[in-house]
Amino acid sequence: MRPINEVLVQTYHRGLENLIVGETNIAKVDGEKGKLWYRGYHLEDLAEHSNFDEVAYLIIHGRLPTTSQFDRWCKEIEDWHEPPIEAMTVLGWLPENTQALMLYRTMLSVAACQIPESKNTRLDAQWRRPARILSWCSTLAAAAICHISGKAPNPYNQGKLFSANFLMQALGRELTENEIKVFDVSMIVLAEHGVHAAALAALTTISTGADLGSAVLAGMGALSGKLHGGANQLAFQNLKKHQSVDEAKEWVANKLQEGYRFPGFGHRIYKTHDPRVKVLEPYIEQILHDKGENLLWDIYQTVRDDVEAELGGKGIYVNADGITGLIYYALGFPPDAFRLPTLLSVQVGWMAHCLEYLSDSKMIEPGAIYIG
Ligand code: ACO
Repeated sequence: MRPINEVLVQTYHRGLENLIVGETNIAKVDGEKGKLWYRGYHLEDLAEHSNFDEVAYLIIHGRLPTTSQFDRWCKEIEDWHEPPIEAMTVLGWLPENTQALMLYRTMLSVAACQIPESKNTRLDAQWRRPARILSWCSTLAAAAICHISGKAPNPYNQGKLFSANFLMQALGRELTENEIKVFDVSMIVLAEHGVHAAALAALTTISTGADLGSAVLAGMGALSGKLHGGANQLAFQNLKKHQSVDEAKEWVANKLQEGYRFPGFGHRIYKTHDPRVKVLEPYIEQILHDKGENLLWDIYQTVRDDVEAELGGKGIYVNADGITGLIYYALGFPPDAFRLPTLLSVQVGWMAHCLEYLSDSKMIEPGAIYIG
């Protein structure tokens, strides 16, 4: 008989790489071909023809809404736009130099305390929560962004779709149709991506019998790290610090020699071009052009091309986090707040996975090999 450790080592994957947590109908991610579908729809088609509100409904409910379902969904989101006052009050107690993500997470925790029925984790109760979480989170994230900029929160905008309202609340200004479209597309392309690290944190939490709000909070913690959602700020800063294309080229060459891990490049699943980048690039080129930031676009292309020329053979290409910071910057978000719009979007997928998992739930609890 073989010793137990030997048997276990055969099924042990560092970072749980290639392990399957379950079956899903939500997204198909093809890492070889660089393709992504939500509920059977091509990402490219949704980005071009849909909007975030509709895509969020699709991801959570499994089908595109009819007109009346869409109107009800938007109304539900609108009805929940005001989080409990305690969540806004706590903001005033926290210093302006607190990381925006920590402010937001703390506010959501406080808001969740005010849901009297949060102890009810029956499936029907969990299904009633996505619109409320999404809507509260929009107001809370916008308020956190205002706070770190030393500004008071901006009012909710009745009758606007999700992205337009969030931008106006976060940035406190009117936006052009183009600005709203670019941002909305970024929200669509990030809304779902299978069981990535943060989605697994959310799934693990819901599998224990916790409520959907706790699952989202768990996902937030997992997403915050620099290998995950935190990469967008670092990737942007790596582009913004150069004064010229030549300087950027030299920087890439030096970093390649050092064996630097470039934030915004590489992916656990994609070993080719990230389809989300392909969708976003034309929009980003346009908005940077509109803002007079052509040099930043040239620097991005240079860094992308030089890194991919050297590391593409290893399957390292620019990822969605390598590019979304350019949108957030062009719109006027402070870099410390870059994780927040990303979070607002990706939590749609987490909630869908949690609700899907609950239909046939088993507590997630992997083991470890004792080597002491
Ligand atoms: N820059 C340079 N080399 C890289 C990069 C990178 N960004 N990413 C991976 N590599 C190299 C590694 O050094 C390693 O090389 P080696 O085989 O010669 O040792 C090889 O590629 C494999 O790397 P792993 O870390 O094993 O790959 P993994 O699948 O675990 O990595 C990850 C995925 C964590 C995203 C990685 O690519 C990375 O650290 N990227 C930078 C951070 C980032 O952009 N994160 C956002 C990802 S998208 C998202 O989370 C939403």
